[in-house]
Amino acid sequence: MYVCVCNGYREADVLQAAARGERFAEEAYRSLGNGPRCGRCLEVAQALIDSSPDAPAPARAQAA
Ligand code: FES
Repeated sequence: MYVCVCNGYREADVLQAAARGERFAEEAYRSLGNGPRCGRCLEVAQALIDSSPDAPAPARAQAA
């Protein structure tokens, strides 16, 4: 399933970035080659990263 239509990133691409340690959608996109464009997908991409068992704990959880 496509998460980001602008860049053609699929769910698996975002999860791979999360597995490499990216914890924010913008950073994950840059690591995949292109940063966000329209930004409509960022909330979904961030939810994917946050739910990934491979991703480090989200920064906001560490601050609590
Ligand atoms: S759909 Fe991802 S930046 Fe536009």
